[in-house]
Amino acid sequence: MASENKTVGKRILSGMRSSGYMHLGHYHGVLKNWLRLQHEYECYFFVADWHALTTHYDDTSKLEDQMWNMVVDWLAVGINPKIARIFVQSKVPEHAELFLLLSMITPLGWLERVPTYKEQQRKIKEKDLATYGFLGYPLLQSADILMYKADAVPVGEDQVVHVELTREIARRFNYVFGREADFEARAKMAIRKLGGKHRRVYEDSRVRYQEQGDTAALEAGQAIVEGHPNITVADRERLLGYIEGSGRVILAEPQPLLTKVPKLPGLDGQKMSKSYGNTIPLREEPDVVAKNIRKMPTDPARVRRTDPGDPEKCPVWQFHKIYSDERRQQWVQEGCRSAGIGCVECKQPVIDAVIAELEPIQTRGAEFESNPDMVRSIINEGSERARDTARETMDEVRHAIGLHYR
Ligand code: TRP
Ligand code: SF4
Repeated sequence: MASENKTVGKRILSGMRSSGYMHLGHYHGVLKNWLRLQHEYECYFFVADWHALTTHYDDTSKLEDQMWNMVVDWLAVGINPKIARIFVQSKVPEHAELFLLLSMITPLGWLERVPTYKEQQRKIKEKDLATYGFLGYPLLQSADILMYKADAVPVGEDQVVHVELTREIARRFNYVFGREADFEARAKMAIRKLGGKHRRVYEDSRVRYQEQGDTAALEAGQAIVEGHPNITVADRERLLGYIEGSGRVILAEPQPLLTKVPKLPGLDGQKMSKSYGNTIPLREEPDVVAKNIRKMPTDPARVRRTDPGDPEKCPVWQFHKIYSDERRQQWVQEGCRSAGIGCVECKQPVIDAVIAELEPIQTRGAEFESNPDMVRSIINEGSERARDTARETMDEVRHAIGLHYR
């Protein structure tokens, strides 16, 4: 398939701050996307427990349970630890080291300008968020991403600015630490090592990109460098920088990966969120799910069964848009507008569909829940594998900075 060719060997990283049980909003908004991506990319999915601390440092009693329940839910929906690396941020302490080193070159203004910084401070009044950790939150996120040299980061609209910041940090890092005094000479030596035909393609691509901005040429040149079997990591970084006219590219710039997903509102029609108390948790008992959907508000114009309504003014319709086929959607549209159906009747197929969707998730969830040793080893092995990659990056980073004392 074309889409697979395009993504072969590409790496994805995404994280979620630990918040405990996942709900249907997470499932439709994030997890279903991850389920697809894990087959197309090399995926790293992690629990951002340090991120949770930046705002919830005052009560850490639930930290472990939240991490645990989140991982169990990921496994329950089908995130597969055999193909994706599932890990926990605090089990890969290299993230803290990279965060520290990046902080040396991060202008304060870049962090103060991140919109979520002031917004959240305004919103979350009950806590003092004038902390160093909270200001540094987006930089910690940059460290998470840059550590794995992620090509793409699947995120929601609100997180795109964080990926943009990450790109700026990478550029600055490469600029500050990727400039060797003899860069040009070393790059030329590296080109010679490419050998014959590859060397000609590389040089030709570089000229065409730098003189005409030919991005197809740039990609061809990058492919030569990335696919070359016998050049060193440092030479690869030199060649990738030289083709673009910069220094060594030690940390790669990631792209945000925005996926259009249908929006599933909460039970009250607002965004589904634990803080609004309007969620359907993935592991909710089926009769509680049914009861809560039955209590959902509908179009306020339908006071009596005989009053016609407008699905556009009703959150139940948003559920039908996700769970119902064309025919049933038409049944809702006509029945609601003509008062041909009642709201109780209208909700039943939604209840059935949600319960049917949750059933296999709950069965798998119960299996993992009753096998904590297995979950523990998935977390530990995933974190070890992530750590292998993190150690490699930190070696390069320390070398580039000059922290590789003998
Ligand atoms: N900030 C993200 C959120 O609140 C979580 C996160 C932390 C993250 N590090 C990341 C997401 C790295 C993507 C990549 O949801
Ligand atoms: Fe909402 Fe359905 Fe009732 Fe119309 S009939 S108001 S769409 S629940």
